[in-house]
Amino acid sequence: MVSLQYSIKKIFNSSLSTRIAALGVASLIFVLASGVVMAMKDGDKSFSPYVDKQGRISLPKDFRLKMVHLGSFFVPEGEASGFHDVYAEAEAVLHYRKNGTFPDGATIVKELRPSQSGDYTTGKNVSHATSDIKQWFVMVKDTKGRFKDNSVWGDGWGWALFKTNDSSVNVSQDYKKDCLGCHAPAKKTDWVYIEGYPTLNKP
Ligand code: HEC
Repeated sequence: MVSLQYSIKKIFNSSLSTRIAALGVASLIFVLASGVVMAMKDGDKSFSPYVDKQGRISLPKDFRLKMVHLGSFFVPEGEASGFHDVYAEAEAVLHYRKNGTFPDGATIVKELRPSQSGDYTTGKNVSHATSDIKQWFVMVKDTKGRFKDNSVWGDGWGWALFKTNDSSVNVSQDYKKDCLGCHAPAKKTDWVYIEGYPTLNKP
């Protein structure tokens, strides 16, 4: 302790260059330490930046800017009515175009927006999405069966649903109950309704 106080005193009394060097070393230690903490928090980065060690899935931030629009479905009526806009990473699309499969770690986001229609110079009863959001669905491809005891993982994907009041929490707890039945018609195409995503086709 005494020697630490002594060295701090020495740094303060030392020349400007020594002080700058000491500051540099201190900042380097800080940067390295925060890197380690972040890596621990984010889990298996090499798998997916949106999945932590326990298999908790998060909604990708800024996905409209960072991901590619695969295509949209339009649901005319009912609870899910409006536009279903679907996004995935550009690398996932390139992999799909080449191999016909989604690569490990691929993320698919589906955003639901209400619609409004009116008469435009293009025609009558033209629909567009509004800026409101209903909810988001996310699927993360897992070719290795990483989270066997986690009920939001299985059949090759992680499955998540986010509500607008808290986009950090996956409100679905069991994909077999909440998702799989409705995706059964798309089982042959890895549970994904690929007919709605022309971006996956070769240009
Ligand atoms: C009521 C039936 C229904 C339920 C429940 C449902 N889905 Fe879907 N999902 C669909 C249909 C149909 C599509 C494509 C057409 C559309 O969006 O209307 C789709 C599309 C998606 C897409 C875009 C990629 C794709 O597969 O085409 C994602 C991502 C998705 N769903 C995730 C989920 C997750 C995660 C759950 C569970 C939390 C879930 N869905 C529950 C019917 C459903």
